[in-house]
Amino acid sequence: MPEYLKKGDEINIEKIGLGTFVVRLEMPTNFIDDINKMYDDAKDLPEHNKNLAGKIEDEFSITDILTDDMRNCFLTCFRQYLQVIQRPIWHCQLAGAWINDMKAGEYNPFHFHQSTLSHLGLSSVLVLKRPSTYGKEYSRDDMPSNGWLEFSGGQQDPLSVSQLRQDAQVGSFYIFPYTLLHGVYPFNGTDEIRRTLSFNCDLFTEMQHQMNEIASEKNLNTSSKKFSTVEDQWSTEDDSQVRANPSAWI
Ligand SMILES: [Fe+2]
Repeated sequence: MPEYLKKGDEINIEKIGLGTFVVRLEMPTNFIDDINKMYDDAKDLPEHNKNLAGKIEDEFSITDILTDDMRNCFLTCFRQYLQVIQRPIWHCQLAGAWINDMKAGEYNPFHFHQSTLSHLGLSSVLVLKRPSTYGKEYSRDDMPSNGWLEFSGGQQDPLSVSQLRQDAQVGSFYIFPYTLLHGVYPFNGTDEIRRTLSFNCDLFTEMQHQMNEIASEKNLNTSSKKFSTVEDQWSTEDDSQVRANPSAWI
C-alpha cells in the first residue's frame, strides 16, 4: 500500500480566510516618537470623552494638530489595508483622530465605530506607549488580559476565530472595519500610562466619492474659507449628532 504523506514530506499549505480582517502594520520608531512629542507639547486639546466609549479620563482630539505628513502616512496605511484584503475599490477619506491616555483601573468597553458621514469605514489603534507591566492577573496567569486589546467576531463557531486578544506593542498599528467590536481590558500595579491613537477613515464608493467632490467644490465656491487638499477632508460638524445609538462611537 502506498504511503502518501510520510514523515518529512513537504506539502504547500495555505490558510484562506473569509469574513472580517484585522491588519497589523509595524510603524517606524520616528513616526511614534514624533506623534508622542507633538501630543506632549500640545496645549488645550479638545476633550473627546463625550464622543467615545472609553472609561478613560484623558481622551483628546488630535485631528487638528497632526501634520500633513502624518495624515498622509495614515491615509497610506488605510489604503494598504484595502490592498491587503483585496478591496481597493473603496475611496478613503480620513475622519477624526484622537489619543487615549489610559491609566491603571481605566478601560475601554466593547464598542464599534461610525462617523458623521458614513457607517462604513476603517478604524484603528496605534500603540504609542505601553507600561512595562500590566500588573497582577487576578486569576489564570496563563491567559493574561490586563491591558490587552481584544477584537470580537460576535460568533462562537467552534471552527472559527471568534475572539482575538493582543498584547499590543508600541509601534503596532491595527486597522479594522468600523463594525468590528473591540475593547481594552483594565490593568493595575503601575503609574505608567498606556497611550494609543485612533483614527477613523470613512469609505465611499466611486459614485459617493464623486458626489462628495462636487459638494466639496460647491462648498469652496460659496465659502470664503480656503482649505488645503488634506484639510478639505476634515468634518467640522458637531460629532455629538451621531449619538443616537449609544453602542456606536466614533
Ligand atoms: Fe474603538
